[in-house]
Amino acid sequence: MSIILDKVNYSYSVGTAYEVNALKDINLKIEDNEFIGIIGHTGSGKSTLTQHLNGLVKATSGHIYVDGEDIYDNDYDMRKLRNKVGLVFQYPEHQLFETTVFEDVCFGPKNQGLDKKKAQLKAFEALYNVGFPEKLFYSSPFELSGGQKRRVAIAGVLAMQPKVLILDEPTAGLDPAGRDEIFELLAKMRKELNITIILVSHSMEDVANYVDRIIVMNKGQVMYDDAPREVFKHYKELEKMGLAAPQVTYLMHELKEKGLQVDETATTVDEAKQSILRALGR
Ligand SMILES: Nc1ncnc2c1ncn2[C@@H]1O[C@H](COP(=O)(O)OP(=O)(O)O)[C@@H](O)[C@H]1O
Ligand SMILES: [Mg+2]
Repeated sequence: MSIILDKVNYSYSVGTAYEVNALKDINLKIEDNEFIGIIGHTGSGKSTLTQHLNGLVKATSGHIYVDGEDIYDNDYDMRKLRNKVGLVFQYPEHQLFETTVFEDVCFGPKNQGLDKKKAQLKAFEALYNVGFPEKLFYSSPFELSGGQKRRVAIAGVLAMQPKVLILDEPTAGLDPAGRDEIFELLAKMRKELNITIILVSHSMEDVANYVDRIIVMNKGQVMYDDAPREVFKHYKELEKMGLAAPQVTYLMHELKEKGLQVDETATTVDEAKQSILRALGR
């Protein structure tokens, strides 16, 4: 299913002294089965943008079309949109509240109107899909590690079978091991499930290894929207926005300046390694 944003603007606190233009003339098209990273410094509009995609926030002006339907039409059913586009909030563990992990993951599908049996089946599938250990299915969500809580929160949204899964800073506050775990999980989900994944992060380094497309937000506008290697060509401009390119980008540019014929647009450590070995004739 495609999502089209046509000149979307959003302002907080319209008409007050605190008015903020959080989104300015956003035009975007999101297709089926994409793996997208939305990057930008704090306050650039990433969360506001994602909240438009599932109808949580309504644009001040502009249009959003989902599967060819204008979601702001009077007779558009917003529940339909929420079923299609699942949003995992930043620090989602704050929203776990049931007595067991399993109950918590059942909450969404039950809320969608599925009977108990069907909701439980969806919950099981979702917990397996996020690689959650069976022996912990009936423990309290509050006894889990940070990484496991995130998995449960992701399963809770997956259980509603969205076509688009949005995760707002899914690794915030996790240690490096927990962070890698979540990224590996997203890469696996992307391979195995037939869905679009949109990953919000303030770290280029994190997304470079995983996504196919990067949308760079700056002051409420889309600055770049392209494949990672194309976006990182602008590493000097990115720095001016307070965003660093992945470390390999810098390394490759330095090697090139020193005369080694490497591909300076390599964006992952693996690509860089291959390119350096080739340049050295190995
Ligand atoms: N609830 C709110 N009320 C007023 N201003 C807000 C609110 N949420 C965000 N903003 C402002 O909107 C802009 C974009 O914020 P946000 O979408 O949260 O950015 P990001 O997720 O990239 O950090 C910022 O200037 C922020 O201060
Ligand atoms: Mg945010």
